[in-house]
Amino acid sequence: MKKSSILEKGTSEVYDSRENWPPYTYRDYPDIKPETYEAFMKFLDTENTSGRLMELQPWISVCDSRCAFCYFPTTATSKVKIELYLELLKKELEMYAKTKYVKTSVFDEIVLGGGTPSVLAAEQMIGLIDFCKARFNINKEYFIKVTGSSKTLALKKIDKLAEYGVYQMDMGAQTFDDKLRKMLCLPDNAADVEKAIRHARKLNLCVCVDIMYNLPGQTMESWISTLKKAIELDVEIDTYSLHVDPGTPLEKMIKTGVSPPPGDAEYEKQMYLTAYKMLTEAGYKAVGHDRFSRVEWHMRENCLNGWPWGGILTTGAGCFMGYLQRFSYSNLENINDYMATVKTGKLPISKLSESTTEDMMRRTMTRLYLRLPVSKEEFMQKFGTTPEKVFPKQLQKLKDKGLIEIDDKEIRITKLGEIWKGNIAWEFAPNQS
Ligand SMILES: C[S@@+](CC[C@H](N)C(=O)[O-])C[C@H]1O[C@@H](n2cnc3c(N)ncnc32)[C@H](O)[C@@H]1O
Ligand code: SF4
Repeated sequence: MKKSSILEKGTSEVYDSRENWPPYTYRDYPDIKPETYEAFMKFLDTENTSGRLMELQPWISVCDSRCAFCYFPTTATSKVKIELYLELLKKELEMYAKTKYVKTSVFDEIVLGGGTPSVLAAEQMIGLIDFCKARFNINKEYFIKVTGSSKTLALKKIDKLAEYGVYQMDMGAQTFDDKLRKMLCLPDNAADVEKAIRHARKLNLCVCVDIMYNLPGQTMESWISTLKKAIELDVEIDTYSLHVDPGTPLEKMIKTGVSPPPGDAEYEKQMYLTAYKMLTEAGYKAVGHDRFSRVEWHMRENCLNGWPWGGILTTGAGCFMGYLQRFSYSNLENINDYMATVKTGKLPISKLSESTTEDMMRRTMTRLYLRLPVSKEEFMQKFGTTPEKVFPKQLQKLKDKGLIEIDDKEIRITKLGEIWKGNIAWEFAPNQS
């Protein structure tokens, strides 16, 4: 049977609509309280015995301009004293570096995220990476990734980063359709993005592009030609379905009729299936959230495979994907509040969630969302019980729908389950019938 026909079979009758994201995202974390701050500090005073390699992720939550759809909490470059921000970002990193937990942790990835770290000069980015290397235990095999937008990634910057030893550039390409780029307030055109990517690839950098689907007015032809272009450029691909967030310029444009709305759930699903088919036929493997990869290392990345026992130590204004075992947190979004709090010597956390053991069991099951198996042995080691005993109804339902397979060792999603992985994860959220 052809790969695609498995996906096409019965896609509409499984659930009414597709969930793109799992439960337990940062949007659900409660505001930090003095008690939870104290509990987190106590945790940081313990040894990290997880045995998992971790990711270090300093954020530069600054952008030169605002893309119409973007929900990331960024500040305009013109409004930020960059040197001061970098100083305080290093201070926050230092606060973590001094804790017992971090001293007993080993990192195999340094990722400059945001925002757009490429608004910095190459020397500033390199200075920040050097700082991380000096203050944290870095694994013998490690990778440096830098997020950059083609609009701020002058070719000379790419040269310097490649020369320094950066392994991967993450670029928000979004779409190679200039009409859509203009509508979404992306300031440069597709040819500029292509030029930056080709330049980085020539230097042997791995490039991972974010591309978006179900954009307002995006035709299937436009989506297909963006996918074709990404394949031709030989890049790793992160696909994102547009989420129209409250407060974004795009939401206003849709409300006022300046922009059409995105397509409906069925259209969105067809776009996802089109990408899945084209990319897998081009030799990509779907990994994690919706990354399509042809690079072997991405398939065994620790930060992905270690979920939920590893960790991402994220820092900087507005960062929101940090987790250290049971604790998940996000930082203050307002860059001035962030800097003022770090100055006082306090961690600039705004939301903090501490998972109970029951939550950890549920979160372990969301490995399925990341296309990862749930090992029965590991579940037993961590919780002293089996997934079947804790989630009998959910597992039976998913098996009956053909979305998961269970054997003696593990539970994993099926090919059909790939499409519905968000819905699968929601089956394990609290209060689901
Ligand atoms: C923080 S951005 C980093 C990329 C970098 N700043 C750039 O644009 O080159 C991460 C990615 O999230 C995705 N994203 C942002 N807003 C989104 C939305 N409303 N819906 C879906 N994806 C979104 C975009 O693809 C974006 O490139
Ligand atoms: S997509 Fe990237 S460049 Fe655009 S506003 Fe968001 S973070 Fe900034």
